[in-house]
Amino acid sequence: MNEQLDSQGRLRHLVTLDGLSGDLLTGLMDRAKAYLLAPGKPGPGDGALNGLTVCQLFFEASTRTKISFELAARRQGADVVNLVIPTSSAAKGETVLDTLLTIQSMAVDIFVVRHKAAGLMSNIVAQLGDRASLINAGEGQLSHPTQGLLDVFTIRQHNKNFKNLSIAITGDIRHSRVARSTYQALLALGVDDLRLIAPENLLPESNELTHGRRYTNFDAGIADCDVVMMLRLQKERMQSGDIPDLDSYRKQYCLTPQRLKLARGNAIVMHPGPINRGIEMDSEIADGRQSVVRQQVGNGVAIRMAVLAAIADGKKS
Ligand code: NCD
Repeated sequence: MNEQLDSQGRLRHLVTLDGLSGDLLTGLMDRAKAYLLAPGKPGPGDGALNGLTVCQLFFEASTRTKISFELAARRQGADVVNLVIPTSSAAKGETVLDTLLTIQSMAVDIFVVRHKAAGLMSNIVAQLGDRASLINAGEGQLSHPTQGLLDVFTIRQHNKNFKNLSIAITGDIRHSRVARSTYQALLALGVDDLRLIAPENLLPESNELTHGRRYTNFDAGIADCDVVMMLRLQKERMQSGDIPDLDSYRKQYCLTPQRLKLARGNAIVMHPGPINRGIEMDSEIADGRQSVVRQQVGNGVAIRMAVLAAIADGKKS
């Protein structure tokens, strides 16, 4: 997806992390760091979006991503508007592209869009051309680039050297756009020991995420890991029969204090949220000393401030 970079290699849109260099990702993380007061504690912006207008269109549910994009854009000085989808003309059948182009006529500079249709974001970019920028805030099960960025940013706060890390991505990988984007970012940053842990039906297709070693046995996969990244069971994207039943899933794949002991003593536990407590992980873990779940959320504001600022750079010259 080269269309997301301009002729000087700067971000014009952010549709996917696939194909972005480790240097570009590191540059965004360095920029995000400057917007933090402490790890996980976003601070004020630097006016990078003064005079620009951001419009958010969330066609799928969101708490963290939507609020953090809005806070990020406001802290950077942007004017922010939100389309409330159920009461918009989308309810009358207006297409997503018509909706965007209509709003773009009102001089919007950056769109932040979440939608269930994989492939939609590239179509939007092709239609928008140079008129406005698009940031993908979640595209079906395909990608969620700012979540991938905030995940690697959070990992970097605990361990600078990606090459030596053992990282386990665990749970409903098949339906997870977060898993795909975080995996792409980790590979670009040089992580070698990447493990994918899930029941057979929730592992990705065999031609996808091929670098990761696959495990159906949680305890074997998590052994000596530095990072344990848990994922939500995405029931809204599942076919019936994808998991046997919640109780047996929980027995085999819920992160419990006993299981976490198999990872390194200083391992961090991540989850993009929302968490199904007692299914993906026990509350004791979610709220425990090794959990960085809240830190991820705070970092999300700073990463989005950095992405917005990088896109704004290209608009000023
Ligand atoms: C994720 C998403 O929407 O893909 N949530 C998020 O953005 N933090 C993960 C999920 O819904 O399970």
